[in-house]
Formats: sequence, C-alpha cells, structure tokens
Amino acid sequence: MKDKSIVPTDKELVMRETDFIVSKTDTKGRITYGNRIFNEFAGMSETQLLGKQHNIIRHPDMPRCVFNLLWQRIQNNEEIFAYVKNMSADGSYYWVYANVTASLDVNGNIVGYYSVRRKPSAKAMEIMPSLYDALRSIELSVPAKEQIAAGTKALEDKLAELGVTYDQFVYQLQG
Ligand SMILES: Cc1cc2nc3c(=O)[nH]c(=O)nc-3n(C[C@H](O)[C@H](O)[C@H](O)COP(=O)(O)O)c2cc1C
Repeated sequence: MKDKSIVPTDKELVMRETDFIVSKTDTKGRITYGNRIFNEFAGMSETQLLGKQHNIIRHPDMPRCVFNLLWQRIQNNEEIFAYVKNMSADGSYYWVYANVTASLDVNGNIVGYYSVRRKPSAKAMEIMPSLYDALRSIELSVPAKEQIAAGTKALEDKLAELGVTYDQFVYQLQG
C-alpha cells in the first residue's frame, strides 16, 4: 500500500546524465526488481520496495490519465514513453523520462513489465510540469470516477491543438 503519510516537499532530486533507473514488475504492477539507482531515488531499501505496488513512488501531482494510458499500452504489448514525476520516501520529487514495456514468455504471454528511465530533457521540463498541473487540476475538479476521462479528454484536446500524436509529442520534447 502507498504510504499516505509522506508529505510532498519542494526539494527536487535531479537525475544525472548517465543514470538509468530500472525496475521490473509482475503483471499486477508489484515491484520484482529495482536497480541500485531505483532504490536511491525512491529513498528506500530493496526489502522495502520488493513486492510493493509501483504506486509506492507515485507523486500526488501526477495526472491519473497518464497512468491509465500507460497501462492501456503495456497491457496491449505496446511500449510507451512517458514523463513521470515521482516521489521519494522523504517527500522530495524527481522527474524521469520512462520507457515501459511488457515482458513476454516464449508463447507471447505477458509475464511482467519493465521500465527504464533516463533524465528528461530541459525542453521537456519547461513544458511537462505545467501541462501535468493543468491535467491534474481538471481531474480534481470532477468526481473520482470521472477523473480519468476528464484528464484524458484534456490531454487529447491539447495534442489536437498542437496537431501531434501522444508519441510525437513526447519524442519531440526529448529531442
Ligand atoms: C514497469 C512499471 C513501472 C512503473 N513505474 C512507475 C513510476 O515510476 N511511478 C509511478 O508513479 N507509477 C509507475 N507505474 C504505474 C503504477 O503501477 C500505477 O499505475 C501508478 O503509480 C498510479 O497508481 P494509482 O492508480 O494507484 O494511483 C509503473 C508501472 C509499471 C508496470
């Protein structure tokens, strides 16, 4: 379960250019592996992280529509690239540029998921925090069961206004 007692702070942890944050989950999103840097940024030990739901590092500022899109894609064995604001155990935040994919067995069945994260570009960091703030505000302005639909519509409207697909949007930002 996510620890609701963690209070988000304004302290940012910044990924180094050479960092790769790697984690794996089972089909239900429970953490089965994290590399050393994953543990470092999460601010938790391997024993604290293994077996936990991946939302253990979810930041409350993240729009739900982004995770909804992520799960739609990976459950369909389609990869996704996404900017994610995560929260460390002490409440500090860190931004990542994640590539998430399904892991398949020899018969093509999904046996888990895999995420590799790099430092987001400066260009992405000029755009994404305010975009996500806008999406999250829209989500929080409606009842819980309507949040994903409202956030998704706002994201789709934004992409339509820019004339790009979601994938084009994130690729362009990472440059
Ligand atoms: C391989 C993999 C990696 C994930 N990485 C993150 C992550 O870094 N941060 C995060 O908040 N959620 C991540 N998620 C998504 C979480 O499983 C979850 O959907 C999200 O935190 C929203 O949780 P909630 O719907 O319980 O609020 C990941 C999921 C998978 C399958």
